[in-house]
Amino acid sequence: MLYNDNMAKVKTKFVCQQCGYETARYMGKCPECGSWESFVEETITQEISSKNNRTVIDIMPPTQINKIKVGAEIRIPTNISEFDRVLGGGLVQGSLILIAGDPGIGKSTLLLQSSGELCKQNKKVLYISAEESASQIKLRADRLQITHDNLYIYPQTNFDSIKHQIINERPDVVVVDSIQAIYSSDVQSTAGSVSQIRECCNALMQLAKQENITIIVVGHVTKEGNIAGPKVLEHMVDTVIQFEGDKYKSYRILRAVKNRFGNTSEVGIFEMCEKGLKEVVNPSELFLKEYNQSQATGSVIIVTNEGTRPMLVEIQALVGTTPYPTPRRVTNGVDLSRVLQILAVLEKRVGLNLSKQDVYVNVIGGIDIQEPAADLGIALAVATCARDVVIDAHTAIVGEVGLSGEIRAVNNIEKRIKEVQKLGFKKIIIPKSNKVDEKFEGIQIVRVAKIIEAISACITVNT
Ligand code: TYD
Ligand code: MG
Repeated sequence: MLYNDNMAKVKTKFVCQQCGYETARYMGKCPECGSWESFVEETITQEISSKNNRTVIDIMPPTQINKIKVGAEIRIPTNISEFDRVLGGGLVQGSLILIAGDPGIGKSTLLLQSSGELCKQNKKVLYISAEESASQIKLRADRLQITHDNLYIYPQTNFDSIKHQIINERPDVVVVDSIQAIYSSDVQSTAGSVSQIRECCNALMQLAKQENITIIVVGHVTKEGNIAGPKVLEHMVDTVIQFEGDKYKSYRILRAVKNRFGNTSEVGIFEMCEKGLKEVVNPSELFLKEYNQSQATGSVIIVTNEGTRPMLVEIQALVGTTPYPTPRRVTNGVDLSRVLQILAVLEKRVGLNLSKQDVYVNVIGGIDIQEPAADLGIALAVATCARDVVIDAHTAIVGEVGLSGEIRAVNNIEKRIKEVQKLGFKKIIIPKSNKVDEKFEGIQIVRVAKIIEAISACITVNT
């Protein structure tokens, strides 16, 4: 039992810093999320417990559904089209948005650039910097050429001061960089702990709704247990946007994982340059930059549909005799179980023997492909690599593979063909069940029903 200076009893609890699970005693492994050594002891102050116990009775009666009036939500576009696309058309006034990502990925850069663009539309932006000093932000802003009188920088970590300034200054948009670095004096645990993050996030949500101000918070994702992952925040905010990418490569992908005001299938693509983040309007060109037309075996181009936009992406497979007792299956950018299923289909329906072969599948460009329309591409990459043949250059592939080796239809086929045609490809292999009404010039459309047909269609070198 712990006692403070006044010898008053202080209650403590153990909180999992990954998922927020609470327990009275220390545990090595979290029963909720399975994280190891993620519990940290946190103090519960009297104010908090009394606050939580307080009952407030709202006298407003419930409303009949037909009597509810819906006002259209007001959106503030950031004028960074890749960001707006992921947001579903701009920032919704009065909403709380979380931008999560690894440290150093470019969250502060993105938000400073967005702030600059918002200011150009005469919006007032308050940038609360809890991690960097005002001069550090100024140096970055100079580099990004952001100079606008509507942009206010406020280096502060104390939540009450932040709240005071938000109410005082009445900005249109507030950026809180980052949620892990601010603390509320209502909670005794250190900044970055789950209790602090929860308390501050809740208070920011209330502020956003009450004052009708858009608040964007930054959350770092780290692998260590001592800093709370933004997982805890996901259910509290309106929108969660993930900023991903390889820190050592220049492209970055923005993806909505939750959006109360839009769909979550859109992605935004940026390139980190010397002068900040540059929008990639044509992602296919970026992903095919290093694509070599006199390809090696096992390399295919697929056309995937991320959100409303088709993209050409290269998939590589490597198949080789294994030195291990059990062969290895390693994937990067595609789901392992999906690949295992495709390998099973190849063994059973195509007669490819992979039982003594290691199989590696890699999506170039660091993007994750989730849709099954990539199946046929993966199957052909593996099959052609195993048989040591090269797929025709300028051929793109799309189709879902069923368990009996049949190729199933995919959505948005015409959009996909258009993208392939635009990038100068000469042939596309598509599922037979996909009807194509439009006429496409200069591109051969090969419709296949079985995986085996697709293999012979993509290796006939006579285009
Ligand atoms: P930053 O926005 O500070 O990342 P985060 O807020 O997510 O931690 O950006 C970090 C990296 O971006 C840093 O390593 C430097 C690089 N960078 C550029 O390459 N060009 C630029 O113009 C800026 C501002 C940053
Ligand atoms: Mg930062």
